[in-house]
Amino acid sequence: MTMRETWVVGAASNRFGKMKESAREAATRVSMEAIRSSGLEPKDIGHTFVSNAFGISEHQAHVGPLINGGLGIPEVPSATIESACSSSSAALHEAFVHVAGGFEDAVLVVGAEKLSHLDTLAATSYFAIGADYPFESKNGATFPGLYATLATAYEHTFPTRPEMLGAIAIKAHANGARNPHAHFQKEITMETYLNSPMIASPLRLYDCCPFSDGAAAVVVASKEFMKKPAQEPLVIRASVRTGSITEMQDRPDLLGLPSTRAAAAKAFRQAHMEPKDIDFLEVHDCFTIAEILALEDMGFFPRGTAGKESLEGVTTRDGKLPVNPSGGLKAKGHPVSASGASQVVEVFEQVNGLAKSRAVPKNDVALTHNVGATGGSCSVHIFSRR
Ligand SMILES: CC(C)(COP(=O)(O)OP(=O)(O)OC[C@H]1O[C@@H](n2cnc3c(N)ncnc32)[C@H](O)[C@@H]1OP(=O)(O)O)[C@@H](O)C(=O)NCCC(=O)NCCS
Repeated sequence: MTMRETWVVGAASNRFGKMKESAREAATRVSMEAIRSSGLEPKDIGHTFVSNAFGISEHQAHVGPLINGGLGIPEVPSATIESACSSSSAALHEAFVHVAGGFEDAVLVVGAEKLSHLDTLAATSYFAIGADYPFESKNGATFPGLYATLATAYEHTFPTRPEMLGAIAIKAHANGARNPHAHFQKEITMETYLNSPMIASPLRLYDCCPFSDGAAAVVVASKEFMKKPAQEPLVIRASVRTGSITEMQDRPDLLGLPSTRAAAAKAFRQAHMEPKDIDFLEVHDCFTIAEILALEDMGFFPRGTAGKESLEGVTTRDGKLPVNPSGGLKAKGHPVSASGASQVVEVFEQVNGLAKSRAVPKNDVALTHNVGATGGSCSVHIFSRR
């Protein structure tokens, strides 16, 4: 089958953090902004893929028709795509398949989440249903606890200093401070990091992403449909989804996520690229240890070395390999279903000169990596300029 060249042609995000509006209202608003930024109109959209994993906490499911109704296109089909924290990058993959396969010319992808009406206990309990409920969550395992288990396994195998994780948190906050979409827009020091409370040993407060509200949307369209793109499009060079064992007790090792390894390997094959071809990345840093695992799993650094490289500044905005110039999930925030789409918003803003003081030195090729829960699912996308 011949695939059509497929682009991201528009993108928009609100500021993550605390929203007054519902997920549905925010999703509708950012969708309209994303469509406008592409130069298209709502009537050009052939299908909408929505992600809103915890809509049930707002007593709202089947949100796609409501968003399309708000956009004035109630007749357009929609579907809700759920893949835990990787929901909207799974939705992006569906959009890619529809457009590259010739089924639609333009597709809207939107992810939104509202959690601020829940306290930490309630939000943690909702999130925990994304793990293995009978074995993990029901017995008290939370995501900070599960990622702390991964961090402990890593620390037992490779020499790891707290400052290595701290360097990742400091970098995230430094980038978030330059991102108007970010939940946390303040820098932190190593002292602040080291003195922050232990949440699930060895993870401190600043190792964790926060609970955030937020919405992000992108428009995907075929090259042939976009006669005159309004902005510099992102060519989708690879769009890959993978799965792997969710249950941590059944995994052969805890030194990485098999779904990330598989997704990155396949994405590099699809794009005919290697890690050295990537100018910057947005990776899934729900906890600082996750960034280390992701960079090693995808082959950017040898096993056991990403912490040292981070401490030496290799992944800062002006380092050799900028990672998470947006601030990442750690500082930009993690409104679960919006996170994958918001990684693409960051790439779009970098390429279109909208990243201003957080611009990376080179932005011809970028990779986004988004994980569902502790790796039961994963998406990797590679984008380039035309
Ligand atoms: C880390 C965590 C437990 C903190 O929750 P908490 O102790 O209830 O914190 P609160 O909401 O009461 O906030 C207390 C302060 O810490 C700040 N804060 C909360 N979470 C933070 C985080 N992750 N990073 C930095 N600061 C944070 C708040 O802004 C607040 O600051 P303020 O006093 O200046 O207003 C919670 O953010 C968490 O569980 N995060 C992980 C979410 C998760 O698992 N996501 C899924 C990933 S797979």
